[in-house]
Order: sequence, then structure tokens, then C-alpha cells
Amino acid sequence: MGDDILNRGLEGIRVAETRLSDIDGEAGELTIGGYSVDELARNATYEESVFLLFHDRLPSPDELDEFRADLAGQRTIGDEVRAVLRRAADEDKPAMDALRMGAAAANLGAGAEDPEADARRVIAVFPTIVATYWRYREGEAPVEPREDLRHAANYLYMLTGEEPDDPAVRGLETYLNTVVDHGLNASTFTARTVVSTESDVVSAATAAVGALKGPLHGGAPGPVLDMLRTVHERGDPEAFVREKLDAGERLMGFGHRVYRVRDPRAAVLSAAASEFYEDAGDTEFFESVKAFEDVAVDLLAEHKPDRRLDTNVEFYTAALLDGVGIPKELFTACFAVSRVGGWTAHALEQLGDNRLIRPLSTYVGDHDRSWTPVVER
Ligand code: ACO
Repeated sequence: MGDDILNRGLEGIRVAETRLSDIDGEAGELTIGGYSVDELARNATYEESVFLLFHDRLPSPDELDEFRADLAGQRTIGDEVRAVLRRAADEDKPAMDALRMGAAAANLGAGAEDPEADARRVIAVFPTIVATYWRYREGEAPVEPREDLRHAANYLYMLTGEEPDDPAVRGLETYLNTVVDHGLNASTFTARTVVSTESDVVSAATAAVGALKGPLHGGAPGPVLDMLRTVHERGDPEAFVREKLDAGERLMGFGHRVYRVRDPRAAVLSAAASEFYEDAGDTEFFESVKAFEDVAVDLLAEHKPDRRLDTNVEFYTAALLDGVGIPKELFTACFAVSRVGGWTAHALEQLGDNRLIRPLSTYVGDHDRSWTPVVER
């Protein structure tokens, strides 16, 4: 096998056909289920986005009612899952660890009769798992899910115990739609790999949570918020950016492996955040965020003239999620609450036309060693 080409990180290798999402990194365009991310994010409820991914078309009113009711009716988690989440909170485990443990238990007590039923169940319980963990972390009793609220509204309700207002629901829903799917990123590839063995959708989602947790994938928006708050308090964004770049640090929320222009999701989230802060009559923080972006993009161009470094999705994620009231400790888990729609849709797509994902590795060890008995070593 010595002549095989080694592709570290599988860069540039296509391993699946998908109708779920398409990224044009040069033009800065993202299509999800045939709609531009902007069109989808502004108009859809989260339930519609997921139905679209599962069925490649928008639901009729009756289908949407059925889909919503089915998800809403499956939001409750059992005492055994709560016990695990309480323990995770008591031991100060990160939210993504709690979510991974809760996700693994998603089909406890529920039959895995068909993969889409599993997918719906996992999507339904993710917000409950995250909110229950958070309530325990805060020393509060968990809030029971409400079936009459939409997915996004119920998630906010379970976090705070109060019915959220429309701007907060709309802001969160725009976020959930914007990041619901994004090509064959590491966690989505993980999900497809797991079901390619004809394993199940719950296992795929659980493994994907583990992949998303890492700082090279889902972990940036918390540090972005810290940076934005510091600059807002201190003023002088130019001095701040120069300090970071001179110290050889990377500026969180900028640069992307695929996009060579501004991440189109940044535009969607920026518009949503702008609307949200205006509605709230609190534009001062958001003004400083926008000013920071302008300064940062200019200075990054000066810093790396040969490599376009522009704003990525995490920059405005931080501003928007903070505005709608999501604690920064939950930013990555909130990403998972959305992306589980993409993971499960990819798992179903993979199962529909499956081929075991089984790449090769290049062996760089020795051959023909002779065994040495333990007493002689
Ligand atoms: N700030 C300063 N310099 C940067 C930045 C940045 N944000 N991003 C890249 N660079 C520099 C690198 O230091 C490197 O310089 P060098 O050639 O002198 O070593 C050059 O640009 C190329 O960087 P790579 O690491 O090759 O770029 P890659 O495409 O692998 O990285 C990544 C993309 C990881 C997103 C990177 O831009 C980064 O670390 N950004 C900051 C963290 C961040 O915002 N992460 C969230 C990404 S969005 C998402 O994944 C959901």
C-alpha cells in the first residue's frame, strides 16, 4: 500500500453526496436544503428547518403541526437522566460533558423502532438536558418543559423559568436555523461514520457531541464574548487588537478553514443581533461590537496581507446569544442544540444510501520484530 496518498485531516477529500447543505468558501455562500442561509434563518421556525433537512421540502400546515406536537411530546427526561445531570453540575463538569452523558441516555425507555423516531427524540430532549443541567448548576430546580411552546421558546423557558418575549425567541431561533447544518464538518462526519456501521442515531448524536466539544470546532464563542466585554469596557479596540497580534495570539471570531471572505452566517447573525439590541433599546454594547469588527478586519489584513482573515460565525454568535440571555458557559451546548438537527439528518441520509466509512492509514512502525520474554526486557 506504499503508493497510497496520505491526506492528513482528509482535506479536499469528498466522502459523501448530500442534499443537506452546500458551502462556497470563495463566494461566502451557504445553502441549506436549497435555501440561502439568510432566507432560511429569517423565515423558518427551528421545527421547519429540521423538517426541511429530513424531507427535502417544507412541511404542509398539517405536517408541521404533527412534527411540532411530536417533538413537544417527547421533551421530558427521566429521573435517572436528571440524576446524572445533577451529578455533572455538582462536580462542575462542563455543559458539553453533561450533554454527552444525557444524550447517551436519550433512548432509555423509548423504543428505537425507526431511525427517524430516534432522531426526533434526540432533537426533542437536547434542550431539556442542557437546561436541566444549567438549573442544577445555578442551584435551582429544573423547569418542566411546556408542550404549548415552540422548540426555541421552550428552551429559553426551561433555562429561566419565565416565558420569553418574542424578540428573544426570534433571536435564538435565527441562531438555531443559521447553524443547523454546515457541510461535512468534524462532528457531522463523526455522526455519519457511526451510523455507517449500521449503529443507531442516538449513538451517532452522542459521538458528535464529543467531537463538537473540542476548541478547534465548537469552543470559540465563549472567549469571543470575554474579548468583546473587555473591549467595550476598556475602549480603544485598535490597541487591544494590536496587543493580541503583537503577542502572537489569534483573534477569536476571525478566520475560517473554508471561507476566504466573511462567513455568510456572520451577516445573518449580525443583522439578528442588531435587531435584537435595537428592540431592547440597548444599542451601546452592540455598537462597540460592530466597531471592533471593522478595526479587527483592517488590522488582520495588515497583519496577514497574504491570507484573508475575516469574521466567522462565532463573532456574532457571542453577541446574539448573550443578548437573548444564554449564559456563555452554554454557548457550545447551544450550538449542539441546533446542530443535532444536522447531525441526525446526515445520519438518516447516510443510512439511506450506506457505505461503511473505512479509510486507510499509512503504517510508519517497524516490521518483523522478535518477541522478547518479559524477564529478559
Ligand atoms: N487571528 C490571527 N491570526 C490568524 C487567525 C486569527 N483569528 N486565524 C488564522 N491566523 C493566521 C495563522 O496564525 C496563520 O499564520 P502563519 O501562517 O503565520 O502561521 C495563518 O493565519 C493561517 O492560519 P491557519 O491555522 O492555517 O488557518 P486555518 O484555516 O487552519 O484556521 C481557524 C482556521 C482555526 C478558524 C483560525 O482562523 C483560528 O484559529 N481562528 C480563531 C479561532 C476561531 O475563531 N474559531 C472559530 C472558527 S468558526 C468554526 O469553526 C465554527
